[in-house]
Amino acid sequence: MDRIELLRPADWHLHVRQGEAMRAVVPASAAVFAQALVMPNLKPPVTTTAAALAYREEILAAARAAGGRAASFVPWMTLYLTEATAPQEIDRAVDSGAVLAAKLYPAGATTNSDAGVRRIERIYPVLERMQQRGLVLCVHGEVVDPEVDIFDREAVFVEGVLAPLVARFPGLKVVLEHVTTAEGVAFVREAPETVAATLTAHHLRYERNAMLAGGIRPHFYCLPILKRERHRRALVEAATSGSPKFFLGTDSAPHPRGAKESACGCAGCYTAPLALPLYAEVFEAAGALDRLEGFASRFGARFYGVAESTERIALVRRPWTVPAAVPLGEGEEVVPLRAGETMGWVVE
Ligand code: NCD
Ligand code: ZN
Repeated sequence: MDRIELLRPADWHLHVRQGEAMRAVVPASAAVFAQALVMPNLKPPVTTTAAALAYREEILAAARAAGGRAASFVPWMTLYLTEATAPQEIDRAVDSGAVLAAKLYPAGATTNSDAGVRRIERIYPVLERMQQRGLVLCVHGEVVDPEVDIFDREAVFVEGVLAPLVARFPGLKVVLEHVTTAEGVAFVREAPETVAATLTAHHLRYERNAMLAGGIRPHFYCLPILKRERHRRALVEAATSGSPKFFLGTDSAPHPRGAKESACGCAGCYTAPLALPLYAEVFEAAGALDRLEGFASRFGARFYGVAESTERIALVRRPWTVPAAVPLGEGEEVVPLRAGETMGWVVE
């Protein structure tokens, strides 16, 4: 098979930053994906519906300016939950029709998560309202306890925080974002229908050797951190299983080169320009290209209760080289994953 057609896909976990950086990176996602769920970890975080709607207008303007397929890109918004979020804010979010989720960042778990949640009990009234109103809870599933090894933080979170949360709010729709472990996958698979997970292309394609063997490669550093091969295999099995609980979320997270190539490099992999070809590479290696469309274009929309795209796009087998770097505005550049390397599929 040298050409596959699929419904135009959706990215259910995307960082597009703000200002010039946003205008620089939106076109790469919008040119391929019909819709995306935009993450709220800006400075300051997007904690209100009003801020989310203003941010959405900026993203829409950037997509329209790019033209072509990007002009019809639909950004869906996410609220950043803090311990001060009021249940009324959930009502405003749902009533806006443009906010599909609220995000739980355990404080300190990842990039710009300092304003996140320290004690989960403090957001129970908000979760109650989300359950009533049908607003999806997106979860960064890692504990922040410094005594827990960084490679174990997801599994400890799933058992100690997520499982009790799902039991306490049985009607709440929950997405375990960027699941990276066999334990996370098993939990989602066995959980009720209200629970789903996104999978990134980089966690499906790489295990931790890519980041650490033969030299330390900061552009592979993200959170949750890449795990060992046994976990990667569990992720591929989930993504290619045909289960509607597992769908595409790139977690494409651009940072300026200098912030990554540093003595204390920050977390996040920029994958937007190569995301769909990278997923295709993984599905092909698993002999499951026929299951890519469900994963990439259908299951997420179904979970979020929005329409899937009616447009079609094609993936064509043709080699191309990922650029060494792409502009990020304000004189900065971002190094994409696989920079300078060849991809076997191209989006047409
Ligand atoms: C993300 C970012 O840079 O915003 N970083 C990452 O490593 N994934 C935040 C996140 O989703 O954790
Ligand atoms: Zn993310």
